[in-house]
Formats: sequence, structure tokens, C-alpha cells
Amino acid sequence: MKIEKLVLNDFRCYSYLEFSPSESVTVLYGPNGTGKTSILEAIGYLATTRSHRTSKDSELIRWGATGFALSALIIKHGRKSSIDMRYGEGRGREITLDGTYGKKAGEILGKLNAVRFSPEDLDIIKGGPAHRRRFLDMEISQITAGYYTTLLQYNRALLQRNAVLKMDASTRTRRELLPEWDHQLIQFGLKLISERVSFVKELAGYAKDIHCRISTGKEHLSLQYCCSVGTPPGADVPQARQYEEALKSATEEDLIKRSTSVGPHRDDISIVTNGYDIRTYGSQGQQRTAAMAIRIAQVHVLETVTGETPTLLLDDVTSEIDASRQEMLMDELAGRCQTIITCTDPSRLRLARGVKKSVYEVGGGRVLLREVSPCSS
Ligand SMILES: Nc1ncnc2c1ncn2[C@@H]1O[C@H](COP(=O)(O)OP(=O)(O)O)[C@@H](O)[C@H]1O
Ligand SMILES: [Mg+2]
Repeated sequence: MKIEKLVLNDFRCYSYLEFSPSESVTVLYGPNGTGKTSILEAIGYLATTRSHRTSKDSELIRWGATGFALSALIIKHGRKSSIDMRYGEGRGREITLDGTYGKKAGEILGKLNAVRFSPEDLDIIKGGPAHRRRFLDMEISQITAGYYTTLLQYNRALLQRNAVLKMDASTRTRRELLPEWDHQLIQFGLKLISERVSFVKELAGYAKDIHCRISTGKEHLSLQYCCSVGTPPGADVPQARQYEEALKSATEEDLIKRSTSVGPHRDDISIVTNGYDIRTYGSQGQQRTAAMAIRIAQVHVLETVTGETPTLLLDDVTSEIDASRQEMLMDELAGRCQTIITCTDPSRLRLARGVKKSVYEVGGGRVLLREVSPCSS
């Protein structure tokens, strides 16, 4: 897959930017605060319909403007396609896909495939379970039609069940109202769990091999989906009856805590190297390596599922990733697909020899081409 053209209108610090990334490697460099990450954020937004930095679309509007617009021309399986997303104060969000206006967010997920490597990836390892669930939800939404819709349906049912749990304790109907929401949670929750389990299995397979290579065979990484509902012996996904039992047996506690304690909204992924939980026992370096292995694995999963290599977005590589890990990352990926790299100092970049790169200087709301050349280092 390739992004042929990207247009940003009143997005972050850009009033208007038209930019055509190279088919191979594009390097965007400039001091901090000049707008490099914002370009990757725009691509991420078109891919996932969300910013990785904020959940509030209004924050993305250039200060003083009343709305933003983003569009991309992409080539996928040899066919051109266009995505246009705009957001305005009071108007909300409008999405146009291949010239057809009025699309829903769920309909454009998976049209533009991008994998972002950024300093925040460490949160997948170090952060709380919510980070890992968000990672799963974002990534599966990109590759599985209908997942995002199921997620919205599940969250709606969860909200309703929690609203019942929060009703006044003297309300006798509380217990009578719960089964209807339990039924919906089970219906949508099982779909989410089964998609997540198969995604984690596929991811784990690639991540194990990649991690073994980049740790030069010293470490063995294992990822496993941990389901709060529990699973029958020898299976990865709970049965509907088991799910119902789990909800029922947690009901008394849920009524006291006024929230639902089991289900995919409480699940997690265990990340273990050489038998140790890397979150607790791993060094910062080991955690970074694991995070990188997981991201590279994600590229392979996307390739397998979509038949196309996603666009890679590598944010701030020179300051966040040491030279040896940069080299590993480039060895695994660079030159294989469209790659956009941001950094403050392009001379510290390690790219595979002979890969064609276009280097742009970013600043003052503009992006200026400085050099097109095969990499020499
Ligand atoms: N909504 C906005 N409108 C205008 N400028 C913004 C907005 N949000 C952030 N900025 C500014 O955009 C600049 C670029 O940010 P960023 O893309 O993170 O830069 P870099 O990645 O190069 O460090 C920052 O100086 C920030 O103050
Ligand atoms: Mg940045």
C-alpha cells in the first residue's frame, strides 16, 4: 500500500500542507515542536479515525480556525482510492470515501493501513491493561470488518448494565433488569474475545521469531490473551454458559462496586520473556525491544491479512531508539515498504545501504525537499 498524496487543512500547526511521500523512505527532520509528529498523526487519523495523542478532535483544529480537513490519495492492490475526513465545531465529523459522502468511521477503517512506531509504544508493555486493550482494539479494527461496530455495541451494553448497577439500591428492579444486558454483553463480548484471541495468537507467532532475532537468540518472548471470564480447559475462548456464570457470580460484587467486573473491558495480554513478566522484571532496554518486536509483528500480521505492506510511520527514532535497535528495526523493515521517518538529526539515522530516501526539512508550517538520494549508511 502507498500513500500518494496527503493534504492537511487547518490541522495542528498547518494551515495548508500538500505532501507526497516517497514510495520508499521519507525522512522529515527539524527541531522539536516544528510539526513532524503532526504529519504522522494526520496519517494515523486517516487510518484509524482517531489521533494517538488526543481523544478530542477539537484539539486538532489549528488554533484560531473552526475546523480541519485531512485527505489522502492511496494506492492499494494497484487501485487508487481517496479518503477525506473533516471535522468542524458544531458540524461534527464528515467522512468521504472515493467520492461518496456520509460514510461512518467503521466503513473507512482498514482502507489506509499504517503501523506507527513511536516513543509511546513502550506503554503497550509498561502501561496498564487499558493500553493493551486499546492497542488490540485499534489494530483489530484495521483488519477485521465489523470489529469496530461490535466494540461500539459492547460498550453501549456495558454502559447500560453499569447504569442499572448504579441505580438506587432500594430499586427492586435492579436484579430484574440485569439479565437483558448480560445477554447483550455475552453476545458482543464473545465476538470481541474470539477476534482478540486469534489476533494475539497470530501476533505472538511473529513476535516470538522477531524478538529472538533482535535479542540474538537470548530471549524468548511469549504473548497470551488473558480473559477475565475464564476459559474451559484446552480452549482459548469462553463458552456462552461460562460467561453467563461468570457475570452471575460477580453480580453481588458488581452491585456493591457499581460496575461490571468481568468481560473484554477487563481483559489483558500477558507479555513474558524467558518465563518472567517483562512488565515487572524487564529492564527498560528489554521492554523497548519487546515493544519493537510487537510492532514489527503487527506489520507482518497486516501483510498476511491484507496482502499489502502497510505504510510505516517511525516517530522520533533517533532520540528514542538507540543506534543498535535502529539498525535492527531497519534490517527487519526498511526498504520493504513505504516508510516515513521523523527525527531531529538526520545524520544520526541508520538506514539500510542503497535504499532510496527523500529528505525534507520541516518548519514554519511547511515541508521543504532537501535531498533525494540512495542511503550511503
Ligand atoms: N491545534 C493546534 N494549532 C496550532 N498549533 C498547534 C496545535 N496543536 C499543537 N500545535 C503546535 O504544533 C507544533 C508541532 O507539534 P509536533 O507535530 O508535535 O512537533 P514535532 O513532532 O516536530 O516536535 C507545536 O509547537 C505545538 O505547539
Ligand atoms: Mg514529535
